[in-house]
Amino acid sequence: MPPTSPLPASSRPASPRPADPLLSLRGVSKSFGAVAALTGVDLDVAAGEVVALVGDNGAGKSTLVKVLSGVHPPDAGTIAFGPREVRIPSPAAAQQLGIATVFQDLALCENLNVIQNLFLGRELRALRLDDVAMEVRARALLAQLSARIPAVDVPVAALSGGQRQTVAIARSLLGDPKVIILDEPTAALGVAQTAEVLNLIERLRERGLGVIMISHNMADVQAVADTVAVLRLGRNNGVFDAATASAEELVAAITGADDNVVSRRAGRGAAADDGRRAAPAGTRERADHE
Ligand SMILES: Nc1ncnc2c1ncn2[C@@H]1O[C@H](COP(=O)(O)OP(=O)(O)O)[C@@H](O)[C@H]1O
Ligand SMILES: [Mg+2]
Repeated sequence: MPPTSPLPASSRPASPRPADPLLSLRGVSKSFGAVAALTGVDLDVAAGEVVALVGDNGAGKSTLVKVLSGVHPPDAGTIAFGPREVRIPSPAAAQQLGIATVFQDLALCENLNVIQNLFLGRELRALRLDDVAMEVRARALLAQLSARIPAVDVPVAALSGGQRQTVAIARSLLGDPKVIILDEPTAALGVAQTAEVLNLIERLRERGLGVIMISHNMADVQAVADTVAVLRLGRNNGVFDAATASAEELVAAITGADDNVVSRRAGRGAAADDGRRAAPAGTRERADHE
């Protein structure tokens, strides 16, 4: 898929909905007082697709995640889940629809063990699971994810960052979601742990989930994503095929200029001598904003 042109939302035609979108946002806007966090944002996720959602700080990524997880109601726009248009007025509504979110802080309890964390908040339901059933379910789930967790009865405090991420993702799968949203799943991880989490994301795709992964790391994005959706200043700034987009292209879309200090650094070596020179400062910026 070629990148869509980064035109202002007002003059951009609405993207057509793909043939079988699992989750499809059109024209989603959200303001906090005078701050327009999201303006006319479109996003599509299909079953078995990993969409990386990228953008600079303040681009609106977390706000979009919060709209999808029922934390913030959008001011405008539509959300379709499967064939129907839906509203997501609460986190419980998101969960019921089948949208699970793993927030960056993971919300695990350090002193509780893996099983207890997996079933936190679920163990008090009417259909109460007993300890044995919970352990069986926990082991089966972690095995399906090919997760390398040393033991299910150790406190989460004893696990590595990658293992904690795995536990948080496994917990979100207990609700049998169709879409899973991961906020910076590799941000705090070393190389080996990152590789494990990326493997886990591939397992999620194999299970047919739609995955939205927020990331700052272009190497991770290109290693695992099918599609890269760029947000800039609360607006769409291109949708790229991860297999063909270069890191420089993505950085250019993220920063809103194809020849600024960041993309020059990213392109160093690759495009060291292509004769490009910096455009007059700010020209592209202004054109993009209005
Ligand atoms: N609860 C809030 N109240 C006021 N402003 C907010 C709130 N949440 C986000 N914003 C603002 O919305 C914009 C987008 O923020 P955010 O979605 O957190 O971006 P990102 O996650 O891409 O860094 C920023 O300008 C941020 O300051
Ligand atoms: Mg954020």
